[in-house]
Amino acid sequence: MQEELRIAELRRILHQHNHRYYVLAAPTISDREFDALLGELTLLEASRPDLWDPNSPTQRVGGGFTEQFEKVAHSRPMLSLANSYSREDVEDWAQRIHKESAGETRFTCELKYDGVAIALQYEGHRLVRALTRGDGTVGEDITTNVRTIRSIPLSLPDSAPEKMEIRGEIILPFAAFEALNAQRREKGEKLFANPRNTAAGTLKLQDSSEVARRGLDCLLYSVLLDAPEEWGVDGHEAGVKAAAEWGFKTPLQRDRAFESADNVEGVMDFLAHWSEARRDLPFAIDGVVIKVDRYAQRRTLGSTAKAPRWALAYKFETEQGLTRLERIAYQVGRTGAITPVAHLEPVPIAGTTVSKASLHNADQIALLDIREGDMVRVEKGGEIIPKVVGVVMEERPPLSSPHVYATECPDCGATLERAEDEARHYCPNAEGCPEQIKGRIEHFASRRAMNIDGLGSEGVEQLWEAGLIRDVADLFDLTLEPLLTLDRMGEKRAGNLLEGIAAAKEVPFERLMFGLGIRHVGETVAKRLVRHFGSIEALQSADEAALLELDVVGPVIAESVVSWFKEPANGQRIHRLANAGLQFSIEEAEGQEVSQVLAGKSFVVSGVFSIPRDDLKRIVERHGGRLLGGVSGKTDYLLAGEKMGPSKREKAERLGVSVLSEEQFMAMLPA
Ligand code: IVH
Repeated sequence: MQEELRIAELRRILHQHNHRYYVLAAPTISDREFDALLGELTLLEASRPDLWDPNSPTQRVGGGFTEQFEKVAHSRPMLSLANSYSREDVEDWAQRIHKESAGETRFTCELKYDGVAIALQYEGHRLVRALTRGDGTVGEDITTNVRTIRSIPLSLPDSAPEKMEIRGEIILPFAAFEALNAQRREKGEKLFANPRNTAAGTLKLQDSSEVARRGLDCLLYSVLLDAPEEWGVDGHEAGVKAAAEWGFKTPLQRDRAFESADNVEGVMDFLAHWSEARRDLPFAIDGVVIKVDRYAQRRTLGSTAKAPRWALAYKFETEQGLTRLERIAYQVGRTGAITPVAHLEPVPIAGTTVSKASLHNADQIALLDIREGDMVRVEKGGEIIPKVVGVVMEERPPLSSPHVYATECPDCGATLERAEDEARHYCPNAEGCPEQIKGRIEHFASRRAMNIDGLGSEGVEQLWEAGLIRDVADLFDLTLEPLLTLDRMGEKRAGNLLEGIAAAKEVPFERLMFGLGIRHVGETVAKRLVRHFGSIEALQSADEAALLELDVVGPVIAESVVSWFKEPANGQRIHRLANAGLQFSIEEAEGQEVSQVLAGKSFVVSGVFSIPRDDLKRIVERHGGRLLGGVSGKTDYLLAGEKMGPSKREKAERLGVSVLSEEQFMAMLPA
């Protein structure tokens, strides 16, 4: 009993401290004290499994695993917002509101967070469900992952309504995004493109403890109460204020992030402020949202099928910056592709300092007549790499001359080549260009290929500098002693590296095939080649016609594969890797392609079948079909099992996708 009381007390105290730290940013105890209390609770909970609670503060670190996110209908539709791009649009909208309503209109203004929408449902003062937007009517239940977001209260004070829903946006602040990418760079993993996509991907991870580590945050934008008037809430502003009292993180906590306005001037003031101040925010926004405050007035205005008439998003222009182009440099990728890179005088754009930007290719540079020394316009859109989009001609220095595109590889000096129908230049010196070789080794070791831990770009550079590797095959000749002579390479790290390399020998052929880094052979093509041909010998002897039999292979890929195998160095490489024990064939059981009857057809497999769903997916692939994650215009067939959600079927029917039962599907296969 004693224990039970203490557990309840600790949970309450820790929830409060969590709120002070993550919502109010005003902690009253040290991290150490917090950890001590959390430690005490963890121990007590371990001794009382009968008192387990998914909403305990100990669950913030995650640990729960979601196999498949369940589809759940929303309490009310999650609509989108009408967009506007100019002040005139905003004025027109306000005018219309004015005409359609009696009396004065009060507006509220807030930021338009660039993240992922979330609906948080509370019952009995506890978070019971968190749903993604989905198609607006049905969302996915991601509660286990959302519980790890510290600024989302898991339990509410008694003063809050028993039942309520909060809607908001889950975002990844810039600092967390950058820290995450720094770690990935270190490990040689592919970088995330932008905070929004990263937040979206993170929320769909199966392992909630990884979600807990990523540093997501949640910003509230609607409060849904069954009887708002009972809580003295007659409009949005009152709702947001009440939610802050109940423990939610609201825009009221940031200077000028939530304002009410009695007329359009007030709204314009807000726009003017944030079109500048947005640069100083610690997270991304893509505009502001203007709403009619009073619920009663909202009800008379109503909604269209897509968006409420009482709200309007004002989108900022894509962020641009002006700066000096100091010089144009070139980078060589692992396939020999040359990328021109603009080195810029550092300029702040949309929250980060930009000093490099993409210039695409020779045609683009010529088209825009971009020259070294020019003042250039740099744009940062959704992509991670900003791009140069134009030149300020009036500011061109006198005596400047058109840029002459490189003719030689910046790394090895080989004469660059350019195929007639390609925009890119290539360095042809595949076997002698250090950057290309290092890039190939890095690609080989990367997570989606051989997944050799501890061998990211820095690791490869270090081994290269020490002269220990000149080829991917050299990795398998590495021994402990020479490794130990390297900087920061103790027994432990060296041992891990060798273990990682040894483990690569077990990696299935399809990932090895991708890891070889043949130009134009991505993961999908690698997989299909391997399934179709079964062994490296069969692939080596395939001619272009044989390759073209696969629907994912066109002339460019076929030519690339054949010429790769023709190159003697690649033959030797395969020989060495095979001798080292790597997997250059697949076993029949692993699923070699057995027919091509489904070639060119794409499938979504959903629901419960007479055999495990994964086996069914394998059958699709073994007959040349392609699997897709969700129903879209690109889907040919929806293979529908029992218990499949109704929304998938509806969507398929709407898009004209054929819906097949298991029997109908089996009938398509050769006997
Ligand atoms: S209000 C019915 N307020 O933008 C209107 N939405 O383009 C409900 N968003 O799906 C939305 N910040 O995820 C609202 N301050 C804000 C917002 C916001 C971001 C997102 C939201 C919505 C999307 C619509």
